Amino acid sequence: MPLYQITNFNDSTQILVWKITESLEELQDEVLLNDINAIRLNGMKSQMHQRAFLSVRKLMLEAGYSDFDLYYDQFGKPYLKDGKHISITHSHEFSAIIISDKIVGIDIELQREKIVLIADKFVNENELHRLKSKGVQDYIKKLTVKWGAKESVFKIRNEQGISFKNHIWVYPFEINEKKATALLQMESVKKQFSIHFEEIENFTLVYAFEKN
Ligand SMILES: CC(C)(COP(=O)(O)OP(=O)(O)OC[C@H]1O[C@@H](n2cnc3c(N)ncnc32)[C@H](O)[C@@H]1OP(=O)(O)O)[C@@H](O)C(=O)NCCC(=O)NCCS
Repeated sequence: MPLYQITNFNDSTQILVWKITESLEELQDEVLLNDINAIRLNGMKSQMHQRAFLSVRKLMLEAGYSDFDLYYDQFGKPYLKDGKHISITHSHEFSAIIISDKIVGIDIELQREKIVLIADKFVNENELHRLKSKGVQDYIKKLTVKWGAKESVFKIRNEQGISFKNHIWVYPFEINEKKATALLQMESVKKQFSIHFEEIENFTLVYAFEKN
């Protein structure tokens, strides 16, 4: 199944999700890459990564863009030539993009029990304590939202030296609220982000907008 869903979040923001079931050959037949990205695709070791990379271009086509409208900076952050903002994510059989007039970041993560083992690497003691005191229900889901929120904020800021644990906090939220607020505090920078999330099969899709 190719295009999985399109969400028109508001007048200027679209989120598009692809479920990658096509073979590499099928996707290659349907997508034209610019020279830099063709070289990049050829250099990828995993076929799953190649399929995800091409599926993102299928999503761009759905949104009215091609690979020729896209470029990356030296850190790997993608930009659209028309000045709109784009963020990209892929994980296993899903890929997603967000395109907006606003500054945005997106992340999709598989919900895994393993996240509990690395929680103390990306969530500070206060956040962890509050999550645990609420009981095990939703613990993995909430940790996955926090991880996705922090990745999304990182993708917005694209700043070296950001620590998920020490510089980005996600305020308490409930899974059924489908939204939260995050704070980035680092040196002289203090910024808030609105976070939105939803479940897609056993994945969590998270996206973030920088607040004014
Ligand atoms: C770069 C990074 C954001 C990618 O995230 P990921 O979850 O591994 O992978 P995703 O599929 O969600 O995202 C990959 C996409 O992010 C985008 N991306 C890569 N570097 C980026 C950057 N510096 N800024 C914004 N977006 C970036 C790219 O579009 C990339 O896909 P593409 O190259 O195929 O177009 C991530 O690896 C990273 O460096 N995170 C922060 C570092 C960190 O502190 N991590 C652990 C803390 S405990």
